[in-house]
Amino acid sequence: MMQLIKDFFNRDKRRMKRKFQTACKHSGLMQIYKSGSKQYRVYPTIIEQDYSKEKIEIRFIIRNGMEVNSEKFILFCQQSFNCKVVLLKQINIKTFLLTILQRDLEKNIHYNYQDYEKSIKTKRVPVLVGYNHQRKLIVFDMKQSPHMLVSGTSGGGKSSLLRAIIMSMIQSAKDIDLYLSDFKMSELLLYKPIAKGVAVNNQQLQVLLSRICKELDNRSRLLEAYGVLHTDNLPAKVRPNVIVVVIDELLLLEGHKENLKYIERISAIGRALNCYLLLACQRFESKVISGFIKNNINLVVSFKTANEISSRLNGISGAEQLSVKGRCLISVNGSVEEVQVPFISANQVKKLLKDYITQQIEQPQPVQENPYNQLTLTERPTTEENRLENILEGNEW
Ligand SMILES: Nc1ncnc2c1ncn2[C@@H]1O[C@H](COP(=O)(O)OP(=O)(O)OP(=O)(O)O)[C@@H](O)[C@H]1O
Ligand SMILES: [Mg+2]
Repeated sequence: MMQLIKDFFNRDKRRMKRKFQTACKHSGLMQIYKSGSKQYRVYPTIIEQDYSKEKIEIRFIIRNGMEVNSEKFILFCQQSFNCKVVLLKQINIKTFLLTILQRDLEKNIHYNYQDYEKSIKTKRVPVLVGYNHQRKLIVFDMKQSPHMLVSGTSGGGKSSLLRAIIMSMIQSAKDIDLYLSDFKMSELLLYKPIAKGVAVNNQQLQVLLSRICKELDNRSRLLEAYGVLHTDNLPAKVRPNVIVVVIDELLLLEGHKENLKYIERISAIGRALNCYLLLACQRFESKVISGFIKNNINLVVSFKTANEISSRLNGISGAEQLSVKGRCLISVNGSVEEVQVPFISANQVKKLLKDYITQQIEQPQPVQENPYNQLTLTERPTTEENRLENILEGNEW
């Protein structure tokens, strides 16, 4: 009996190896040796092979002189294993991990904060994305991976992801001030009652972003005055809230140089000053998303794209193959994962916000150690130097 089971698994392993070598052969990941009239094909060496219902993992080492064309190799693995999601990670110069995800993700996951609370509470600036193939909840901390860019064709689920991220941030009750921009005046405006600022056109956005940039200048001076490197390290009485700037339909900013400059600036200096960008657009247009902004963004999410070229432009190969609403690929520090985003409907947002606002009114609010945080950017004193002097002298202002 034991022998039968062993044979069964070995047969599966052999089958996987054959599929792997077929993909290597077609993508040119092999070497040919001649011995007399005979030719031998040499493939990368498999050093570990794991096989489950959910995924296949193959760890392999390439031989000297071999070169991996990852795009071609992934494409032929997709064909050979007949699976859509193939991920390739380079472990070191010669070692690679190939992951083939066999089971499809769940569709239509409904938003339920209680399912994410434990994970979100541990993050300073939580960004909820969804569930991966191992049913693991993916939540990032923007403090560690600042700024996020969401892309994909119309109807993929970009705005819905922004809604879920914002709702989970609100429900986590962190000291986060939200600034929203929605030129399409769609469902993001549902959050207007709790946002510190909202813009629906370039002029309004310019006012908003210029105030945020002024606030960042003040924060920089505070860091300098207190000799610390991050606003979280400032004493509580002067520590400012986290700022999250959410801009949906980023491409509508095209041609507005001032606003694009402000965004570049925030992307460059926001990290230490606890100010983060959450941007969404259909595709990466270099006229709007400069290489400079791209380089400053750590989290990239792509919903379905129109074609392979768009996927490559958006920085995540394979996104054109996504077919389910709310399904996306995420790329963090070089590795890519497929994730299903929990869906929150407009009605659910309205209901949760109503409950949230009622709760805020009924419950006495904790006293803010830094009263400055209670003011909107417009209410803050214009003579910032005076304010800084007062803070530094320990006076009330
Ligand atoms: N996570 C999800 N789960 C299930 N369905 C979803 C999900 N996200 C979006 N959808 C469905 O797709 C529709 C379009 O989503 P959404 O408006 O977020 O797309 P979008 O990418 O912002 O499109 P556009 O570029 O046109 O603004 C939603 O109305 C909803 O029916
Ligand atoms: Mg949208």
